[in-house]
Amino acid sequence: MAVLRFPETTQKIENEQEIRATLSAVGIDYERWSLDRVPAESSADAVLAAYAEEIDAMKRRGGYVTADVIDVKPETPNLETMLAKFDKEHTHSEDEVRFILAGRGIFFLHLGGTVYSVEVGPGDMLRVPRGATHWFTLCEDRRIRAIRWFQQTEGWTPHYTDSGVDKDYQPLCFGPAYLGPRVATGISVERSA
Ligand SMILES: [Fe+2]
Repeated sequence: MAVLRFPETTQKIENEQEIRATLSAVGIDYERWSLDRVPAESSADAVLAAYAEEIDAMKRRGGYVTADVIDVKPETPNLETMLAKFDKEHTHSEDEVRFILAGRGIFFLHLGGTVYSVEVGPGDMLRVPRGATHWFTLCEDRRIRAIRWFQQTEGWTPHYTDSGVDKDYQPLCFGPAYLGPRVATGISVERSA
């Protein structure tokens, strides 16, 4: 279940219908899909087969020609380099469509002068249309598994805005993996000379 926040205020929306309506008003599709088709950790082929009906329906809906499964874990090689491609404000020339199977992450959407923080988790489908400015970060457990759809077989490329606005927002997740704010323990170790 997603959590929608407005980082400029304390406003937070956790009701599915309210999230859908609020995002729909700015052109973002949000839906909850069933997770009971297949165990989340099944092979990519098994996931694509299990969700074939939804995948084909989404292809028809948005003119997508291909779908795959992205799997990111803390041990993924060059993880930080990979994440650094997505955590700066950018657009794409095609839609960014994700159905989250496992893990959590935050889509920051910068639309009409407002920043929306959408923390997504298992069962959430989010469709960010082409041209919409956004950036994405993983939660602290560095885990996400998702089905992706593409309009071009050669994949997509981020077009960075270089606005720097992404630096003003803390990528804090508050979902199931959240254990509370980090607090200083007050304990420090100093070497005496
Ligand atoms: Fe993106």
